[in-house]
Amino acid sequence: MSYKLAVALVLTAASLASAQVASSYCDASSGICFQGYKDPTLDMTIGVVLPPDSTPASNEYIVNFVVPVSYGWTGISMGGQMSNSLLFTMWPYNSQIMLGPRWTNDYVLPLPYAGPEITLLPASKVNSTHINAIFRCQNCTVWEGGSLGSGNLDGTAVLAYVASTDVGVEDPSDIDSSFQEHNNFDFFGLDLSQAHSASYSKYIGGGSTTSAPSGPSSTTVPPSTTSTAPQGTQTAYGQCGGTGYTGPTVCASGFTCVAVSPPYYSQCQPSK
Ligand code: HEM
Repeated sequence: MSYKLAVALVLTAASLASAQVASSYCDASSGICFQGYKDPTLDMTIGVVLPPDSTPASNEYIVNFVVPVSYGWTGISMGGQMSNSLLFTMWPYNSQIMLGPRWTNDYVLPLPYAGPEITLLPASKVNSTHINAIFRCQNCTVWEGGSLGSGNLDGTAVLAYVASTDVGVEDPSDIDSSFQEHNNFDFFGLDLSQAHSASYSKYIGGGSTTSAPSGPSSTTVPPSTTSTAPQGTQTAYGQCGGTGYTGPTVCASGFTCVAVSPPYYSQCQPSK
């Protein structure tokens, strides 16, 4: 272990005892409530909400990640350290959110990591000051070399967040882009027993502001059909494509399917 890491861990233990601990808050636009932490200096918020406890345990959760849009790139470590953790990296590209899972076992550029399935929920947005990403992560509680809460989804997790506040990634249009080291990192403690919500299934439907799409042609779709049957059109701002998505890919009249965070998420946006 490096000297700096040792110092960081000691500081972490000290700071977790005082301030850097998650508390509950609700995201205004989605109505989703998270256990999370806002770093007042970096102006970054990280929140997590889990489904209710179940047997077998669910392998998913929703993450809220709010960061200044001016930062080059930002990241979260779900294991609280750089190596052997599920990492998320994020940066803006033309008002789109570029977000993906990464992994490494050393202090080197983490590479894209297969397994986790990320879906940006519709309330995610980029405005002139911040990225507000709200994403569902499936197959995300266990990863190579570790697990959320060290395997106890009612225990304590230490999460870490990083930022390159000044330098951007090499090719922002490429989710697999390489980049240089962050110039900031810090940690907070998350009591997972407080992070489960009975509203989880409502949240993954888009939060409290949306209702289930009820396209006129949906009654004609046989329920047993899985992927290729026509499924009617997707409503305004609904999902219309992306990794693992099996719903309608055609948008309602006046809307076009836009790959807002390729390859993970496409959304029906007003046609230009
Ligand atoms: C080219 C890319 C990267 C390089 C070269 C790099 C390098 C490093 C180095 C050298 C440290 C130790 C710093 C110190 O002790 O002062 C460190 C710490 C850390 N890094 Fe990275 N990093 C990179 C990307 C990332 C990413 C993408 C994440 C998360 C999304 C991340 C998360 C962390 C965390 C949480 C720490 C502090 C805890 C620990 O030392 O494990 N890093 N990184």
